[in-house]
Amino acid sequence: MELPFSQACENNKDPILEVLKTAFSDCTRVLEVGSGTGQHAVYFASQLPNIHWQASDQKEYLPGVTARIKQEGVTNQPLPVEFDVFADAPGGTFNALFTANTCHIMPKEGVERLFEHLEGDLSSVERLCIYGPFNDNGHFTSDSNRGFHQSLQSRNSDMGIRDWQWITELANQQGFELKKIHPLPANNQLLEFQR
Ligand SMILES: C[S@@+](CC[C@H](N)C(=O)[O-])C[C@H]1O[C@@H](n2cnc3c(N)ncnc32)[C@H](O)[C@@H]1O
Repeated sequence: MELPFSQACENNKDPILEVLKTAFSDCTRVLEVGSGTGQHAVYFASQLPNIHWQASDQKEYLPGVTARIKQEGVTNQPLPVEFDVFADAPGGTFNALFTANTCHIMPKEGVERLFEHLEGDLSSVERLCIYGPFNDNGHFTSDSNRGFHQSLQSRNSDMGIRDWQWITELANQQGFELKKIHPLPANNQLLEFQR
């Protein structure tokens, strides 16, 4: 099968990795939510060999992620598991959660559900890294993000760039504090939380 591919993942994987090396330095089991093409999953697993990196996504994405993981054959990486945030989290104990470019794709209720898992079946998670474009108190941080938001809304009005303050409020409700906002290329940010 032809593997799904995202050029953006190729462009952002190294800047994200530099943050994860520190943010997840004491983590051994990471759950990635919304793995998409699986490019981040295989790259981070190969570069962070002490971490058991569990990819996950909605059912329709699993064949592509599975094929990529099998092709790469990284030893610290199991096959992906199904996880739709509106359903139960996969079994297993994770001490960190990573997700990239999902908060503007899921409806707001999906983002809220993701955080609710952190007081339920994902209560073992203590580190949280969330990558993507974010607004600052309702303000776009670039013209390109404004255009991206408009294109998302024209596709589906439930999609859209979220305020980092709202994400932080959801994290605070689960006992996480915002450790740092890492500015990354292409007007994206990585929100690093810990509890
Ligand atoms: C734009 S893609 C990002 C994929 C990848 N993380 C990346 O950075 O390229 C959005 C991802 O969010 C996932 N997603 C959307 N709604 C979801 C839900 N309800 N539960 C879990 N994942 C969801 C999609 O399946 C998809 O993998």
